[in-house]
Amino acid sequence: SNEEKLQIVKKHIRNYNDFPKKGIMFWDVFSVLKEPKIFHLLKEVLVDTVKKIDPPIECIAALDARGFLFGSLLSLEFNVPFVPIRKKGKLPGCTFRASYSKEYGEDTLEVQIGSIKKGQKLLIIDDLLATGGTLACSSQLAKQCGAEDITYLVVLELEDLKGRELISDHKLISLIKL
Ligand code: PRP
Ligand code: MG
Repeated sequence: SNEEKLQIVKKHIRNYNDFPKKGIMFWDVFSVLKEPKIFHLLKEVLVDTVKKIDPPIECIAALDARGFLFGSLLSLEFNVPFVPIRKKGKLPGCTFRASYSKEYGEDTLEVQIGSIKKGQKLLIIDDLLATGGTLACSSQLAKQCGAEDITYLVVLELEDLKGRELISDHKLISLIKL
């Protein structure tokens, strides 16, 4: 079952204390990707989870950088556009911008104007939900593009940080709670 697969995946997520700053516990999703068999289990759960979203998603927006790992594989699987939401200064052309404060530091995100179409059913995906600043900022950008029906999907949720409360405007699916 998905639960059994996720239990195995969870065992392979390494954590590092005091990274990138003192007092921060860093959860390294890349430790899963180092083992193809484990990554495959995670992929199966992601695909099954997205399959159940109703109405079906029409576009996937993924977060720079670690959200890209999962967003691109899902966009191929469901044959929907992959849209990058990137940290500032990385995307060419006309963009919308929004800023946020995160677990460690400040940042600005951008999306290309026209990349998410008005009214599209959108999936916003990232590896991890901490304070929720990143996803809240992304949904602001998605709304500037005209998206209304948004679902958030993360692999990992740090429940103690209560990021879920900041993004309670839309449905959130988190696979593994830490
Ligand atoms: C991390 C993580 C999430 C975000 C979560 O990304 O990958 O995107 O922080 O934090 P929040 O819920 O408090 O906003 P980070 O900005 O460190 O960069 P990266 O993905 O480019 O490594
Ligand atoms: Mg990130």
